[in-house]
Amino acid sequence: MSTAQGGAGNSLFARLKSGLNFSFGQAGGCVGLSIGASSIKVAEVKKIKDSWALTKYASVSLPELSTDSREIINTVTIVRAIQTAMQNAKISSKEVCSAIVGSGIIVKNLSLVIENMKDLQDQVFWEAEQYIPFDISEVVIDYQVMGKGKDNQVEVILIAVKKAFLEQYMGVIEEAKLVPKIMDAELFALQNTFECNYAVSKTESMLLADIGAMSTKIVICSGGNPLLVKDAAFGGTMITQEIQRELNLPSLNDAEALKVSGNLPHEVSEIVARLGHVLGTELKKSIDFYTASSLGPPIAGILLSGGGSRAAHLSRIIEEYTQLPTQLMNPFQKVTSESKDFTEQYLSSIAAEVVIPLGLAIRAGDKT
Ligand SMILES: Nc1ncnc2c1ncn2[C@@H]1O[C@H](COP(=O)(O)OP(=O)(O)OP(=O)(O)O)[C@@H](O)[C@H]1O
Ligand SMILES: [Mg+2]
Repeated sequence: MSTAQGGAGNSLFARLKSGLNFSFGQAGGCVGLSIGASSIKVAEVKKIKDSWALTKYASVSLPELSTDSREIINTVTIVRAIQTAMQNAKISSKEVCSAIVGSGIIVKNLSLVIENMKDLQDQVFWEAEQYIPFDISEVVIDYQVMGKGKDNQVEVILIAVKKAFLEQYMGVIEEAKLVPKIMDAELFALQNTFECNYAVSKTESMLLADIGAMSTKIVICSGGNPLLVKDAAFGGTMITQEIQRELNLPSLNDAEALKVSGNLPHEVSEIVARLGHVLGTELKKSIDFYTASSLGPPIAGILLSGGGSRAAHLSRIIEEYTQLPTQLMNPFQKVTSESKDFTEQYLSSIAAEVVIPLGLAIRAGDKT
């Protein structure tokens, strides 16, 4: 598999799956299912030579509190929303590639000094115990070596997933009568969509940030490799809650409607801009760490996605914090679409939110 076509984290979850007797189905349609905090999104893709085409897509909003810290607390609502999304998109394939997000998954860059590579696994597991806030027996751990430097330095990406979360996510997918063929990390789906649409360079890197409702997925990648990854626990909901509180509105839904209306009173646009300041500070921290640790080539720019990236003036605020050119990711730069229902206007209306489900669908396609 070529790295330019979504090779991120390719084998990363192999052990994770085998450790749980994960059963692979037959090759089927390439469907990505994103169980987001605010909506369920499904995308189907088709491979055309070396590129991809989006053939089907739908999203279904979730009511408040279907998940809490990403633990699924309202299974029935999520199962129904998955089924509705599959019906609305007219997807008949049953096999999906989905992912775990938020606090159920820990993805961490480790920089280790290893005298003898035979000791790598022991050291990774030892380090993992320092970082993982749960009992080690409750998690499945996997890792991938990203590079080797001077003085026996080895760069590793560690992934730990809480078994209970994995079972919960796979459980709702199965209850929706689907087969969770691959469970990935949304961080890698983000990178997949980027690599299928933009030239992949080894001499410079790119910072990707997908701003969801509850979490922001951050990846700095170069040459097909994720060099720094982070799942930060903030997103658009934080702003919606602040709007509700400060304007004393009766419900979160009122605050959400006001926020996305595009016609914002001055006091609301100030609150919305706070997301930019939180994100700007977070990205600056990641960039400084990346640069100080010499993790890879210089960062050429930032691409934003996720529903939160629609917030007014966000790119400008991020540019001010990071001094890097910042744009919205265009998931249809190379990926085409194959449906008469997908007008240009429709594609641009889904561009921010389609990035993760599209990356998951491509991952499913790469495996078939
Ligand atoms: N025009 C807009 N301005 C500001 N925020 C917006 C706008 N449109 C959508 N959002 C925000 O985007 C968020 C939803 O984005 P997205 O669908 O990417 O999240 P999700 O996938 O459900 O969540 P997560 O990725 O955290 O699981 C919500 O918080 C919503 O308020
Ligand atoms: Mg999301």
